[in-house]
Amino acid sequence: MSLFITLEGPEGGGKTSQAAHLAEHLRRLGHDVLLTREPGGTPISEQVRRVLTAMDNTAMRPETEFLLFSASRAQHVRELILPHLQRSGVVVCDRFYDASLAYQGYGHGLDLDALRAITTFATGGLTPDLTFLLDLPVEDGLRRREVDGNWNRLDAYDLDFHRRVRQGYLELARAEPRRWVVLDASRAPEVVQDEIRRRVVERLGK
Ligand code: TMP
Repeated sequence: MSLFITLEGPEGGGKTSQAAHLAEHLRRLGHDVLLTREPGGTPISEQVRRVLTAMDNTAMRPETEFLLFSASRAQHVRELILPHLQRSGVVVCDRFYDASLAYQGYGHGLDLDALRAITTFATGGLTPDLTFLLDLPVEDGLRRREVDGNWNRLDAYDLDFHRRVRQGYLELARAEPRRWVVLDASRAPEVVQDEIRRRVVERLGK
């Protein structure tokens, strides 16, 4: 059975390690798992990621940013995600188009209807089956990012931007409660992982 799982949230919520632990767990259960991330996943998409996150690209406009994320996504979906789902695999993806709605839409204030239309073109209409929102206060998340040394150009946007991103995510989750699971990511990582596993296994059993 194919299943497309995404992990989302503001900075520092532990998405990357939660995604890795989930993938490992599902492989142990015998599933064919693709663990991937956005922006990135394919060589072309990883090149676009470098342009997006480079600290010296301070002149980048929100529209450019969104289109680059979308370009990276169009490649990622067609080269990696769709073929894996078509082979009945499970895809675990660290961020997907909801990040563009939250960051470029709610964060930068770009028109959400326009973003959705371009997103549908970029993804060919592919939607995750299950999306986890690893939610935590933005100050806590950004502090974690500074400590882990993964600081990038987007982390450096001001605190109000990150607050709008978090509120945006919560609104997206409220609008589609059947797809989203909102988790308090300020708890211990093992507790969060247990809950993620439980929800995924429940979903695979259906
Ligand atoms: P990461 O921190 O999850 O590796 O993601 C890199 C940065 O890119 C992070 O600040 C979130 C941001 N981002 C967007 O702004 N829009 C998007 O569509 C995606 C996928 C990520």
